[in-house]
Amino acid sequence: MRHDHLITSKQLSRADIETVLDRAAEIDADPSAVANRHANSVLGLLFFEPSTRTKMSFETAMKRLGGSVVDMGSIESSSVKKGETLADTVRVTEGYVDALVLRHPKQGSAAMAGEFVDVPLLNAGDGAGHHPTQTLLDLYTIRENAGLDDLTIGIMGDLKYGRTVHSLAYALTNFDTRQHFISPESLQLPREVVFDLHQEGGGTQIREHDSLEEILPSLDVLYVTRIQRERFPDENEYQKIAGEYQIDLETLEDARDELTVMHPLPRVDEIAPEIDDTDHAAYFEQAHNGIPVRMALLDILLENNSDADTRGETDE
Ligand code: NCD
Repeated sequence: MRHDHLITSKQLSRADIETVLDRAAEIDADPSAVANRHANSVLGLLFFEPSTRTKMSFETAMKRLGGSVVDMGSIESSSVKKGETLADTVRVTEGYVDALVLRHPKQGSAAMAGEFVDVPLLNAGDGAGHHPTQTLLDLYTIRENAGLDDLTIGIMGDLKYGRTVHSLAYALTNFDTRQHFISPESLQLPREVVFDLHQEGGGTQIREHDSLEEILPSLDVLYVTRIQRERFPDENEYQKIAGEYQIDLETLEDARDELTVMHPLPRVDEIAPEIDDTDHAAYFEQAHNGIPVRMALLDILLENNSDADTRGETDE
């Protein structure tokens, strides 16, 4: 992953993932060791869709590395309002910063934007496409709670539009996992993703279910997701599905004591608050892991990029 963009988790090898997670664990153990490491670096935030965790944790991560952040701000207050294209926005802003973070409602937008810039571009969510930095913090959380090999994971909810699911599923093919996908038929994983996951193969087994019940007792991790209301072409379709696939204490009666429950957040009503105080709940820890993981990723990318710049200078 040398001074490259991070667009989808398909790019990540097991070695890449382990490099980031190991660095994150080091940072987690002693954050002060990297407090001034990127004092002269600036990170640009381009968020064309709402975000709390991803945006704030990137900002916090960069500041905890000693760097600073510039934020395009809301669409309303930016030149996007005047009709500027995404290609022009990234071409201009790359001149201000050392790396860019982009979130955009259109699937494929991060890959397209990446064609126009040389600084590392991190995809923080492109429509129903991918969200690879979320995946890294998900993997970190899974590794801490259940281990990444010989893992049985259930991924439940909106598998069609949920970009965190797509990214996580691809990344898990690097490990010895059994992946169970639980959703109503209308929100199943896109067929091309299922096809790819089978192709990727490796140590991964893939199965799809319409109910959690039959599979719950075997799970080490249950990854719950929000129904992505904003991506439904028809609000009536959303209303038909809303409220399904929720879990509460009663649902978890047959679960293993060690079951780890995760959620990328925000949750609407998928996980009853009564689960929050149980040992199953790892979703707030998962959100907090966004800091060391994004610090690690930025540290690696900025370091590689400055090495590449130096090499470029000496080559000339
Ligand atoms: C997710 C996203 O934006 O895809 N949120 C996040 O980044 N943690 C999940 C969601 O919006 O449901």
